[in-house]
Amino acid sequence: MQAWTEYQNENKERFLSELLDLLRIPSVSAKSEHKDDMMTCAEFVKKSLLDAGCDSAEICETAGHPIVYGEKIVDPSLPTILTYGHYDVQPADPMELWDSGPFDPVIKDGRIYARGACDDKGQVYMHVKALETMVKTGNLACNVKYIIEGEEEVGSTHLAPFLEENVEKLKADVVLVSDTSMISMDDPSIETGLRGLAYMEVEVTGPNRDLHSGVYGGAVANPITILCQMIASLHDENNHITVEGFYDKVAELTEAERTDLNKAPFDVEEYKKELGISDVWGEKGYTSLERTGIRPTLELNGIWGGYIQEGAKTVLPSQAFAKISMRLVPDQVSKEIEELFTKHFEKLAPEGITVKVTPHHGGEPAVTPTDGKAYQAAAKAIETTFGKAPIPTRGGGSIPIISLFEKTLGLKTVLMGFGLDNDNIHSPNEKYDVANYYKGIETIPHFHKNFAE
Ligand code: BES
Ligand code: MN
Ligand code: MN
Repeated sequence: MQAWTEYQNENKERFLSELLDLLRIPSVSAKSEHKDDMMTCAEFVKKSLLDAGCDSAEICETAGHPIVYGEKIVDPSLPTILTYGHYDVQPADPMELWDSGPFDPVIKDGRIYARGACDDKGQVYMHVKALETMVKTGNLACNVKYIIEGEEEVGSTHLAPFLEENVEKLKADVVLVSDTSMISMDDPSIETGLRGLAYMEVEVTGPNRDLHSGVYGGAVANPITILCQMIASLHDENNHITVEGFYDKVAELTEAERTDLNKAPFDVEEYKKELGISDVWGEKGYTSLERTGIRPTLELNGIWGGYIQEGAKTVLPSQAFAKISMRLVPDQVSKEIEELFTKHFEKLAPEGITVKVTPHHGGEPAVTPTDGKAYQAAAKAIETTFGKAPIPTRGGGSIPIISLFEKTLGLKTVLMGFGLDNDNIHSPNEKYDVANYYKGIETIPHFHKNFAE
């Protein structure tokens, strides 16, 4: 048993109640009505870092939401771990699907229910409590730096320049992030890759105003019909994406790498049952693990237009809209994919219809090494606390800033996440198991100790 385990056992209840306090702050970065809550949350994080033992912590204002930075330099000759996380959360909507208030955390059956419980406040706070443990028990083995940002869920717009302006201050040996998931508590795993993102909005316009669908319908193209046809053509019969040039830069894995990736435990029957679907779907020739891990995808996130209120209205709408996102893999480049998509989509429109394509935020894919000192330190830490060596997996989600840690700061990242795929992140009833929270707090100091050795 480690010296710090006793401290953690003695303070368990407080570690949990403090997290609940953090979860009560509705730090929704996407909505301007929460601007003040974002500052309140940043203040909370700053104070928690100071209370945990940071020598200094500050709120760095940006043109968007503030970044919290804290550090404790024990000895310049020791290695430095830069921990990254985010205090902002996704909107809670649709509210009516929550069993309890999204910002009124409750613990039920050993699970913390609240927006941000897993993504990412719960996981950020594990690092804060791990720091407290290490400092209070005299076990801090490395210098520590923390960047906890407030704009991850809206594309990390202002974090990129912050990195560029603070290269010296952010000097470290590795970036440690807990913002991903594991297969399960029985099968701990470490994600070794994240996908990139290109997010587009499209607007299709037909006639100059909404029309009577009987008087004009059949003689004038309906923008909703046209938009649906355009969207339907974005996948072919094998569910390949038809955007010209889309796959040109996709790095293919070797057969051996694919075999390895498919060794991760995955029960397709269990997967279907859990999601309430009778079959899976996807690009022909690839397994479900490959479809989310190493292949790029194109998804509709929303589609609207015409009359959607109560009752019926016979209308031929003037416009139709959709939000479309593409997940990218090495070596696709977000900006290039935006351009390819725009060109392709504009070409799809028939005569008489105009199309406007607008890119939202994007980000590059990232692959983290499994042979370096940092991955080994994380694998060993997990093996110590879970009693089982972690399985490397490829994650389907995106954390756009990860590729910039390498590009701007020259730092490799370790994704030591403790979430589970069924934590309902971004969904109603987001949860985080209390056991995972405590396991994270217990494991992180092992990482620090292993990394220092
Ligand atoms: N923590 C997630 C990303 C994630 C989740 C990675 C699960 C691996 C497993 C992150 O907060 C997130 O939601 N990212 C967004 C991208 C962002 C630009 C909005 C995403 O993946 O959609
Ligand atoms: Mn996250
Ligand atoms: Mn998220």
